[in-house]
Amino acid sequence: MNRLTTHFAPGEPAWVELCTARPDQAEAFFRDLMGWTVRREQLGQGSYRICEADGHDVAGIIDAALLHSGRRHGWITYFAVDEMESAISRAISLGATVLLEPRHLPAAGTGATIVDPHGAVLGLYEAGARAGVETLNSIGSLCWNEISTGDPAGTAAFYGALFGFTTDQLRSTMGQPYSVLKLEGRPVAGLLALESSWPNEIPARWVPYFNVAALDDSIEQVVNLGGASVLGPVSSPNGPLHVVHDSEENPLYLIELESSLRTPRPHRLVRQDSMAEPRTTPLFDSREFRDACGQFPTGVTAVTAVTADGRLAALTVNSFTSVSLDPPQVLFCLATSSSSFSVLEVAQRISVHILREDQEDLARRFATSGLSGEAKLEGVEWASGPDGVPIIENTAATLVGHPGQLITSGDHVIILVDVDEVHHKPSQLTALGFHRGRFLIPGS
Ligand SMILES: Cc1cc2nc3c(=O)[nH]c(=O)nc-3n(C[C@H](O)[C@H](O)[C@H](O)COP(=O)(O)O)c2cc1C
Repeated sequence: MNRLTTHFAPGEPAWVELCTARPDQAEAFFRDLMGWTVRREQLGQGSYRICEADGHDVAGIIDAALLHSGRRHGWITYFAVDEMESAISRAISLGATVLLEPRHLPAAGTGATIVDPHGAVLGLYEAGARAGVETLNSIGSLCWNEISTGDPAGTAAFYGALFGFTTDQLRSTMGQPYSVLKLEGRPVAGLLALESSWPNEIPARWVPYFNVAALDDSIEQVVNLGGASVLGPVSSPNGPLHVVHDSEENPLYLIELESSLRTPRPHRLVRQDSMAEPRTTPLFDSREFRDACGQFPTGVTAVTAVTADGRLAALTVNSFTSVSLDPPQVLFCLATSSSSFSVLEVAQRISVHILREDQEDLARRFATSGLSGEAKLEGVEWASGPDGVPIIENTAATLVGHPGQLITSGDHVIILVDVDEVHHKPSQLTALGFHRGRFLIPGS
């Protein structure tokens, strides 16, 4: 059976849901404010509303009467878990209480709602048919989740023990101490310390951030729609932001996102069955297969990538192809045995450079195994692009983007890249080619 597994690592915020006493009003408010379209799915006696931005699921709206005996909880952040029962037991042993026992929705997965020891309501989500939000960081979608708490040390300790978060201390742009919660060096959520002499008297709270195209216009709309501007605009390293209340006084952040807070890993699904044994034994050996494929002449690209914690990869790739014009997407295939794999599988940004006829040396250097990405880039002329991804100078063309789906197949993984930047200068020089195991200059 094809089992699709999500690439939201356990502990990553995977979904957000507005638990409201007035779902119709909430739907109208967010449709107008965020430009969401809302579809309904049957849930028991009622319906669950799924909000879409540009055709991607970004959030849910639930009637508090349906699941929470009418008690509205505002925005609930759901965290991905591998195995619900053990996650719940761990949370309880750390002082959490269960608000809503795990419930399985065949169209989605298994969700549960708990309260942390400091009073913050949160969800746990074991992915089934759906991984969670289908896009991160794009306009109208979730880009960050933050807990505000009067007991930052206790809160960090609870989530550290529950999900394995490590904590990086920063100073908040709002003057309050701020920490970034990380999973394997990747920022996944924030922790804002509330000024409070009675820490546990003020319940902690998870608040989502949504990206908007024009912050000032959105704030005006919030007010026109019956919400309120609470604090802002505040300039943050990731763009100007504003704390607002929706029409039911649920807090949320709107941000005009300039650089990603979180590595976008939406709908990066891996087909696990494709790792299965081949159905038949081929009547040729791998050398013959390689030689046959080598009859196909290709261009040559140099791929560079950066992770959220600044690790670099660089390698030569000729399995490049364009996939989609709208939205612009390309792909390449990467051997899972490649030492670049550990960087590319969690890359924040990827650049694909179509090499010029005078860049054979670079192609050879980038194909040297046993060298780190950083070492391959030494002596190569490159500049730092978005999120620090290396952009090599003087290529035939360069495509910069975010990694999309990763699909494992046999001993390779197909990496899709959603391209958002293109560099292309007209030149007399042609592109570098590769045919029958040799570099060549097409036409010569
Ligand atoms: C012309 C050429 C094309 C290549 N294309 C690919 C490719 O499409 N996918 C891949 O995984 N490796 C490809 N390689 C091999 C990688 O460049 C090489 O394995 C890698 O750079 C070795 O370093 P690594 O272990 O850091 O990946 C190609 C090599 C050459 C010379």
